[in-house]
This record gives sequence, C-alpha cells and structure tokens, in this order.
Amino acid sequence: MLLRGTAFTRLPTSLHLPATTAYRHHPHSLSISASASASSSSSATFPAAALSISDAELESRGFALHRDAASLDLDQLNAVFVAVGFPRRDPGKIRVALEHTDALVWVQQRRTEKPVAFARATGDGVFNAIIWDVVVDPSFQGIGLGKAVMERLVDDLLARGINNIALYSEPRVLGFYRPLGFVADPDGIRGMVYSRKPKRKK
Ligand SMILES: CC(C)(COP(=O)(O)OP(=O)(O)OC[C@H]1O[C@@H](n2cnc3c(N)ncnc32)[C@H](O)[C@@H]1OP(=O)(O)O)[C@@H](O)C(=O)NCCC(=O)NCCS
Repeated sequence: MLLRGTAFTRLPTSLHLPATTAYRHHPHSLSISASASASSSSSATFPAAALSISDAELESRGFALHRDAASLDLDQLNAVFVAVGFPRRDPGKIRVALEHTDALVWVQQRRTEKPVAFARATGDGVFNAIIWDVVVDPSFQGIGLGKAVMERLVDDLLARGINNIALYSEPRVLGFYRPLGFVADPDGIRGMVYSRKPKRKK
C-alpha cells in the first residue's frame, strides 16, 4: 500500500522532479496514516503545487477536465476499464460507487466526448482517502493525462485538509506513483487487505 500525507518527511532527493513538473513536494509530503491522523486537523489545508500541465494547455490539446460525474458516460468509462485490463463492471454498481466517491477527476476528449483519463477517491471526508480506478485509455497513455488527473485529485483532497492518501499500486506502476509523492511502506507500515473474490455465477 502506498501512503501519502503529512508526517513532515521529505521525499528522497532522487525522487524530486525538475521545477516545471515538480509535483508535489508539499514540504509535508509523506505520511504514516495512524500517527498523521492523530495529529492532523481538518482545518489544516495545503497550498496547491504547480501542475505539470495546466487546464488551459489541456484545453488547447482538445481535452476537457471534469470534477464530477454529471456528464460521464458510465458505459464509456467501463470500456476504458476493460481496455486497460480491469474487469468489466456492472454499470449500476459503478453508479453506486461514484455516488459514494468523495472526489474524482476525469478528462474528456472534446472531439469524441469520451472519457480518456479517470481517477477517484473515497474516504471519511476529513482525515483519510483512498484513490481508486486510476486509468488512462491506452490510446492516450504517455502524454501526461495520468499525471494530470492524479495531481488534481491529490490537490483537491489536500485542499480539504485530507492528508492521509493511500492507494493500491500494481508493481508495474510503482514508478508512476512515486514521483507523485507516494511511498510504499512508509516507516515500515504495511497495508493489509481482506479481500474475497466473488464466486462466479454458474
Ligand atoms: C498507469 C497509468 C494511469 C499512467 O497514465 P499515463 O497517462 O500513461 O501516464 P503519464 O503520461 O501521465 O506519465 C506521467 C509520468 O509517469 C511515468 N510513467 C507512466 N507510467 C509509468 C509506469 N508504469 N512506470 C513508471 N513510470 C511511468 C511517465 O514516464 C511520466 O514520467 P515523466 O513525468 O517523467 O515524463 C496508465 O498507464 C494506465 O492507465 N495504466 C493501466 C491501468 C493501471 O495500471 N492503473 C493503475 C492501477 S494501480
């Protein structure tokens, strides 16, 4: 599990990015969930860091940013999930999941009106959040959209004073999350998961 928040620990220098893309090294960048929760205050918020790509630049490249699901076509979102290898999900359940989502950011290609990048976070609204479903349509990967949605999602959470931000990362994408400020097993803290695979219907 990767955790991010405010334990007043700096990232190792080797993880710092050049100033223009530098995310995200709010001086208080890493976190241990338990102790940070005890010391964090919902009234404490954090200034937004510079974005690697501005909203205006995204617009000029034909992409629109959204922070709610009002105009999000769930079948098209499902198609992106499937395209990256996630299982196809029941659209009704996706709808419920989004209703219980605290923050989301998605990018729409203006020409087709389809979603091409997406990330969302659930949580307690005050201390903790978990990021889910970070996906970029394969045809649009590698051009900064994943980073664009993650930067904004994290900033939106920090702006609400939510400073313990966790996510599950597949091994092959650890290198995507690390420069965004996420660390695995901070101070030896281990994520533990109880997960049961649903039985297949016959
Ligand atoms: C992982 C994913 C969201 C990245 O989105 P993306 O739009 O392709 O990534 P970006 O173009 O924004 O890349 C941002 C930076 O991360 C790097 N990066 C992207 N994917 C990476 C990976 N798998 N490993 C290491 N670095 C990666 C890029 O090189 C880029 O570096 P830079 O800022 O130094 O130029 C996307 O590849 C994806 O949807 N993958 C399939 C679904 C998935 O695995 N989701 C995560 C589940 S845990």
